[in-house]
Amino acid sequence: MPAPLESDVPSAALTGSMRDYAAPRGAGLQDRTAEFFAWQDLRRKHGLWSYARSTQDVPATVTTACEDSGAPIGGTNFASQDYLSLSVHPAIRQTAQEAIERFGVHSAGSSALMGNTSHAVALERRIADFLGMPEAILFPTGWAAGYGVIKGLVRPADHLVMDSRAHACLQEGARSATGNVHHFRHNDLGGCRSLLRSIRAGDSANGIMVVTESLFSMDSDAPDLAAMQEMCHEYNATLLVDAAHDLGNMGPRGRGFIGEQAMIGKIDLVMGSFSKTFASNGGFVACADRSVKEYLRFFSPPCTFSNALSPVQAATVLKAFEIVEDAEGGRLRDRLMANITALRHGLGQEGFSVYGDPSAIVCVDLGPEGLARLVSRRLPEFGLLANLVEFPAVPMGKARLRMQVMADHTSQNVHDAVAALTSAVRSAKADDIR
Ligand SMILES: Cc1ncc(COP(=O)(O)O)c(C=O)c1O
Repeated sequence: MPAPLESDVPSAALTGSMRDYAAPRGAGLQDRTAEFFAWQDLRRKHGLWSYARSTQDVPATVTTACEDSGAPIGGTNFASQDYLSLSVHPAIRQTAQEAIERFGVHSAGSSALMGNTSHAVALERRIADFLGMPEAILFPTGWAAGYGVIKGLVRPADHLVMDSRAHACLQEGARSATGNVHHFRHNDLGGCRSLLRSIRAGDSANGIMVVTESLFSMDSDAPDLAAMQEMCHEYNATLLVDAAHDLGNMGPRGRGFIGEQAMIGKIDLVMGSFSKTFASNGGFVACADRSVKEYLRFFSPPCTFSNALSPVQAATVLKAFEIVEDAEGGRLRDRLMANITALRHGLGQEGFSVYGDPSAIVCVDLGPEGLARLVSRRLPEFGLLANLVEFPAVPMGKARLRMQVMADHTSQNVHDAVAALTSAVRSAKADDIR
């Protein structure tokens, strides 16, 4: 049971954001971190820093964790990303144990040298076939795949045209690859087209990469991929789609929105992560040509100069793809969607506003950061674990509670979560009156 909370909270803990500390000044690179720490610690002392928690148990539908202050918390878990609940699947655990027996625990090298295992090679083939694409290459994380595919292919004279809400790994990759980074408003295809038109009017000699996600991780919405791909053909640009959040857990036979929109095998480049659905860490890029795969292996720094997936990770993800593709995968996706629908419905009935379309990401609008922090602080006492999301992950003033749904959640879990959030908001509003 968490310690009782004081209602008297200093306003500095409810105002300000990470933005205030993103560009500290001064010659001492380490000294200048102190100001951020003071603000963070003020929040921590008042129970308002709900980040950097550590699980004390399997991150299943009910779990225990520790705040970074050391305070124990626990309850219904909507804070872990394991959409098909594969991380607790007996076949996955057995596969991981067998991989340790056979290969040990360490890949012991980059995939550009001798770090890949036979499972990793088989996994590359499996992902390519899953997406109807000729080739795929693994990366140590999804972040590395997003950053690495851009840094590997785009050069300073080239251009990037990106959805403004594209994930940090894509934004960082873009910034490090070229100064020619152009953003269009979230899911604004007209904006995307006018950028392509104006870039091509002045430059037909260099490349353009257009970057979007098949399911946006904070807004739970999807772009029209067919229209974007067609636009890219028209302007001789290359489309990159990040399918981290929907691949495996949505769409026909788990093919996500790419499958839903009948675009299997038709997107130029698809990248993804194993950390949401495939019970492990790691990422991939799927492409249309062996030459692209080979180029990435040797010119994409997070692939070339980083250790390959561990044998356990590669074996686990391979097994996860097997489950995703067979009848059990279909049953898990049905259960997941039933939970998503029930959660969105329950939240709606309590008057909450939920972002986007049904997906495993259920983001509840909490509005300004101050109230959102107070709500998040109250959640553990009502037995709900869910992540507060603030700037820079979402725009200022649009804080939200991100609930990530799993196939194994029960209707009782969903009911408890809605009741807990309702009570937490009531308490937080009382705290806020002061
Ligand atoms: C859209 C998107 N792309 C990429 C990543 C990075 O994936 P990983 O956690 O495997 O590094 C994430 C995870 O936060 C994500 O949400």
